[in-house]
Amino acid sequence: MKTQVGVLMALLWIQICWIRVEMQVEQSPGVLILQEGRNSSLTCNTSVAMAGVQWFQQNPGGHLIFLFYIASGVQQKGRLEATVNTKERYSHLYIRDSQPGDSATFFCAVEA
Ligand SMILES: *[C@@H]1O[C@H](CO)[C@@H](O)[C@H](O)[C@H]1NC(C)=O
Ligand SMILES: *[C@@H]1O[C@H](CO)[C@@H](O)[C@H](O)[C@H]1NC(C)=O
Repeated sequence: MKTQVGVLMALLWIQICWIRVEMQVEQSPGVLILQEGRNSSLTCNTSVAMAGVQWFQQNPGGHLIFLFYIASGVQQKGRLEATVNTKERYSHLYIRDSQPGDSATFFCAVEA
């Protein structure tokens, strides 16, 4: 008998916020555990209007990778896609067909 074991990945992420200390930035979910091949999305929303959002990925080794700077619309990079809605003050990061190598801490940095 052959068993297929899905690879579990933990996407743990925290927030950073710059430019304005008093600005509140919220990211959800805090921790995401998903199976290989699944799609998922992360959200970052703020209490004040955003001019743009940067998304970063920090791998378990500590290496910080710049993913996107997005001020409007949609941007795509491989299996990753970022969208922003400045009026509604949120940004989504979509991960398609997730792979074990996606396990990382994801940051959003909001430009107010
Ligand atoms: C993930 O999203 C892609 C593109 O939107 C879709 O084609 C695919 O079926 C989705 N996969 C799963 C597992 O939902
Ligand atoms: C982010 O969105 C959630 C759900 O809509 C809301 O409850 C929360 O207050 C928002 N956070 C900020 C900082 O605006």
